[in-house]
Amino acid sequence: MSNITKDPLYYPRTELAERLVVSLKDGISHALTLFAPRRMGKTQFLLQDIKPLAEKMGFHVCYFSFMDTFISGDNQAQGTDIQQAFCQALSTFLTKTVQVKLNKALGKIKTVEIAGMVGVGLDNGKLPVQTSPSRLLQEIAETSQKPVLMLFDEIQELARIKGMQALVKSLRTGLDMYQSKIKVIFTGSSTNGLRTMFNDSKAPFFHFAHALNFPNLGRDFTDFLADIYQQRVGKGLDKTVFFTIFQRLNYTPLYMRTITQNLIIDPELSLEQAVQKTLDEIGFQNENVQQWQQLSELERQILRLIAQGKSALYSQDTRQQLANLLGVEQISSSTIQGKMRKLERADLITRGVGDELKINQPQFQTWLIENKI
Ligand SMILES: Nc1ncnc2c1ncn2[C@@H]1O[C@H](COP(=O)(O)OP(=O)(O)OP(=O)(O)O)[C@@H](O)[C@H]1O
Ligand SMILES: [Mg+2]
Repeated sequence: MSNITKDPLYYPRTELAERLVVSLKDGISHALTLFAPRRMGKTQFLLQDIKPLAEKMGFHVCYFSFMDTFISGDNQAQGTDIQQAFCQALSTFLTKTVQVKLNKALGKIKTVEIAGMVGVGLDNGKLPVQTSPSRLLQEIAETSQKPVLMLFDEIQELARIKGMQALVKSLRTGLDMYQSKIKVIFTGSSTNGLRTMFNDSKAPFFHFAHALNFPNLGRDFTDFLADIYQQRVGKGLDKTVFFTIFQRLNYTPLYMRTITQNLIIDPELSLEQAVQKTLDEIGFQNENVQQWQQLSELERQILRLIAQGKSALYSQDTRQQLANLLGVEQISSSTIQGKMRKLERADLITRGVGDELKINQPQFQTWLIENKI
């Protein structure tokens, strides 16, 4: 990663990264889950902050995203793709980073037969071996001279996709057995999926990891971007206004950096014009508009309330307000509950660690607020 050109608009989250890596290194915790809605900067944080810091602090680091492996259309095929890609990533990490000679490592793995195995197709196609995450983790733990940090992005996909049980169990076994050597940070953007993974008493990772809200960036972030603007363009930005825009756009870093880019490229733009241009550019993708069109009026109203930060959706007052909007006499709590379940299953809404309701995609949240539909 170190030879990648540094991204000048990336604001490092060093303090947070330090806090997490130190508590893993010191054994205060062996597994953490970072939760945030989509597009809030989880992946960038893992790659740009956590990975280099952890390497500096003596870890071997392995990153894998369970979301990037959507190769095939149907669920079953996706499952096989993910299993293959995951085991491939672990064995590449084992051979390339942990620096074990390919033949030696595979020679050992090949002879072991355990339950829940998945096939790993190797690049050269010559050495088809049967192995599993737990077996690979064992190999990693036993051969690594250094502690290991696994960064598993979008872990809720494992709960969402069918046929993942064997992989999940095996992963859990491996991480459990080698806790002292292998630390892990999971990220997730769907509470529904995360709950299935971590919180249900029958869940494979029940209480396995310490859950943390991924905090929003603050004024220091927008000040940082404003300073870059000043350096490049030679004139200042009203930092207070700039921060207010960030708040208005639900603390989504992507918007602010795009606004900054637009302002640097075209210094004639006013701040408000740059905001508008960015909103138009990033917009709200077509597929979401289609999804919106398929929702019932009650579902839309519920989403609007959540976007406005309302949480007491079952209260008499709110139900009456919704009934008035829809022009009906009343709406029961169970009707609302059913709708909420549907919206949550569709990942349109999600819950934070403290169970607070949120719109899952900040872009959607912004769209709901900015387009007074
Ligand atoms: N600290 C930061 N400084 C500057 N820009 C950032 C920062 N964090 C995130 N971004 C911007 O926000 C975008 C989204 O970040 P990222 O892909 O990490 O989010 P995510 O939470 O992983 O989203 P998803 O749920 O879609 O995977 C990045 O492409 C980057 O442009
Ligand atoms: Mg991501």
